[in-house]
Amino acid sequence: MSRLLALQELGIDTDELENLFDMPEDAVEVVHQIEEDDQEQASKAEQVVGKEKFKFLRSWPVAREAGELLYMLVRYLKPETILELGTSFGSSGIYMASAAAENSTGELITVEVSKLKHSQAKQNFRDAKVDEYFRQEIMAADQYLKKLSQPVDFVFLDCDRSRYAFYLDQLLPYLKRGALLVADNAIDRSDDMEAYHKKVLSMNNIRTVLLEIGDGLLISRMLK
Ligand SMILES: C[S@@+](CC[C@H](N)C(=O)[O-])C[C@H]1O[C@@H](n2cnc3c(N)ncnc32)[C@H](O)[C@@H]1O
Repeated sequence: MSRLLALQELGIDTDELENLFDMPEDAVEVVHQIEEDDQEQASKAEQVVGKEKFKFLRSWPVAREAGELLYMLVRYLKPETILELGTSFGSSGIYMASAAAENSTGELITVEVSKLKHSQAKQNFRDAKVDEYFRQEIMAADQYLKKLSQPVDFVFLDCDRSRYAFYLDQLLPYLKRGALLVADNAIDRSDDMEAYHKKVLSMNNIRTVLLEIGDGLLISRMLK
């Protein structure tokens, strides 16, 4: 996929990466079902006006090709600790945890502030059969980052975008050399992410590329 070529700037062998999509069927079924349910909620919400729209809970799952790339990146890099901010119903988390399961190494720690979403995700992780490879935390991202005490080698940012620059400051002491940071919505919500985007571009120990995949993935690698 030529849209992946920019990843070579981050030291990633894209030929090898592209051969790594071998996600187990149980996990594929669950992420596709989450997508379908979200589309159903979206179309129901379209038929009503005003506050009524909020009756339909959206999970806003990661776009399918972005999720598949997360899977391949985790398969390729074999990170020990994957941190996700913004679990929702667990779609992106299942892509990453099932890659850890296929690697037989690594753990996804996924953080969500909504109790309802947290418990729906718990069921989805169970159905996807990724049991030993994830841990859910129910709290706000900044609260979790305050208590973080272990090194991290893979991060997926998918929550309140305007705070990513602040989260990066909290994360920096824990990011290993070679760690990868992936931030979603870098194209469709680029305004919200402006501070974060500028920050990663200004740091000389981080290299960053923007991929036109899904809603836009801003991918950064810690050089030292
Ligand atoms: C776009 S959805 C995440 C989608 C998910 N990554 C997936 O692919 O299925 C954003 C989620 O972030 C959660 N969120 C927003 N702000 C948060 C915060 N400060 N801390 C933790 N979670 C937050 C929301 O409740 C929502 O579930």
